[in-house]
Amino acid sequence: MAPLIVLFIIIIGGASPLAQSRTTPPHHIPKTTILDVTASIQKTLQVLNFNQSKQQQQHLLSSTSSSSSSKLSLQLHSRASLQKPTHTHYKSLTLSRLERDSARVRTLLTRSRSFRVSEFEAPIISGTSQGSGEYFSRVGIGHPPTPAYMVLDTGSDISWVQCAPCQSCYRQSDPIFNPNTSSSFKPLSCASTHCQLLDQSQCRHGNCLYEVSYGDGSYTVGEFVTETVTIGQRSLTNIAIGCGHDNQGLFIGAAGLLGLGGGTLSFPAQLNSTTFSYCLVDRDSDSSSTLEFDAPLPHDAVTVPLRRNSEYETFYYVGLEGISVGDELFLIPEGLLESDPPWGGFVIDSGTAVTRLRREVYEMVRTAFVRGTEQLGAARAVSLFDTCYDLSSMSSVMVPTVSFHFEGGKVLTLDANNYLIPVDSVGTFCFAFISTNSPLSIIGNVQQQGTRVSFDLANSLIGFTPKSC
Ligand SMILES: *[C@@H]1O[C@H](CO)[C@@H](O)[C@H](O)[C@H]1NC(C)=O
Ligand SMILES: *[C@@H]1O[C@H](CO)[C@@H](O)[C@H](O)[C@H]1NC(C)=O
Ligand SMILES: *[C@@H]1O[C@H](CO)[C@@H](O)[C@H](O)[C@H]1NC(C)=O
Repeated sequence: MAPLIVLFIIIIGGASPLAQSRTTPPHHIPKTTILDVTASIQKTLQVLNFNQSKQQQQHLLSSTSSSSSSKLSLQLHSRASLQKPTHTHYKSLTLSRLERDSARVRTLLTRSRSFRVSEFEAPIISGTSQGSGEYFSRVGIGHPPTPAYMVLDTGSDISWVQCAPCQSCYRQSDPIFNPNTSSSFKPLSCASTHCQLLDQSQCRHGNCLYEVSYGDGSYTVGEFVTETVTIGQRSLTNIAIGCGHDNQGLFIGAAGLLGLGGGTLSFPAQLNSTTFSYCLVDRDSDSSSTLEFDAPLPHDAVTVPLRRNSEYETFYYVGLEGISVGDELFLIPEGLLESDPPWGGFVIDSGTAVTRLRREVYEMVRTAFVRGTEQLGAARAVSLFDTCYDLSSMSSVMVPTVSFHFEGGKVLTLDANNYLIPVDSVGTFCFAFISTNSPLSIIGNVQQQGTRVSFDLANSLIGFTPKSC
């Protein structure tokens, strides 16, 4: 009898090696969460009707006052409030967002690929006309300042704006920055430290030229200069930025990009910021939040170590050790956690919308979620989402709670809106995680919405403060 039992155990264990990595989450985490279906659908109808003229005026008053003298604060807006969606239905808006999101993920994978072995075979596509960037802030460039909407990007370091004269500029909502109108515009020499730090640079008549290419076919090329950048009432001088005369691709609407990555040329690094943080408002909301520099971490933040990749300093990694769904906690297999080569790990990114999970992790999480939602009507897959529901007859539903479990036992419990999202205005909702074959997993902005994400660069910590936009 005994050998039979042993054999039985071996078979069970062998059939499902991942069963070993399943446990139960701590008791204080609620097993279920309520999703307000009616309110979510309402937002999908509103986002198509934002009053742009009102919005633009509000954005002009973009600086926020701050009580602390060292803190810098900028308003942060969703894409929907900057650029009126051209879509008449929320479904087509969703599909274009997902297409843009795929291009974004390819960009990240390709960007990191140049520093590593060739496993990341991501197809290179030409820039779509969708435009990239989900969140924006407005800064002033030059002296006197020219207002410029900038895409916020934690996945890259170099900040740049489109610059006159344009060899090629895409359409933007503000006038294009003309260096002739700025007294603080100074080209950097090829010998300058900033120029030497560029990955891709050239020298012309002793002046430094930069190039940043994004994996999806978009790029910006121009002079690498120092300029004054104004944030609210504060003017920061001699910030190295790209003055792009030849710009192609995905940044439609914005004047340029604010590189918030972890490298030496990034905006926070040049400001010598000890911290920066953002709180991403709902992508369908025209309300605003803030991007802050040098503000202390909120006292109630869930803090976890900020990890780096020793070969690629741009990305911010977190040690995600598990994901719980309802009363099941799935531990991430050890090999998938490391940020160093062979390039696993979890990057936290402001520009990717939907969290990408390694296939084996995704499948555990999805299966558990499906098990916990058997009472809900299933709907057909929508684009990259394979788990969807027809909630058209409901005003609210109870769903399993999804939480991220970080190293040190720290838990970030997500709101139902962070993982069950509307894809149209008639009640179809999808489970908002996507499976990836790439070794790199990405925590995207749908999962970060409503949470202030703080990067404590001085102490190498990331803080998550839910419900604090
Ligand atoms: C949008 O704003 C303009 C100007 O403030 C106003 O005239 C118009 O009635 C508004 N439209 C809607 C739909 O609120
Ligand atoms: C800047 O000024 C120079 C000299 O006056 C002029 O040749 C050039 O066209 C101007 N550039 C732009 C973009 O206005
Ligand atoms: C950051 O520190 C460097 C080196 O100490 C200094 O040159 C630079 O002016 C500082 N930048 C700001 C914005 O304070």
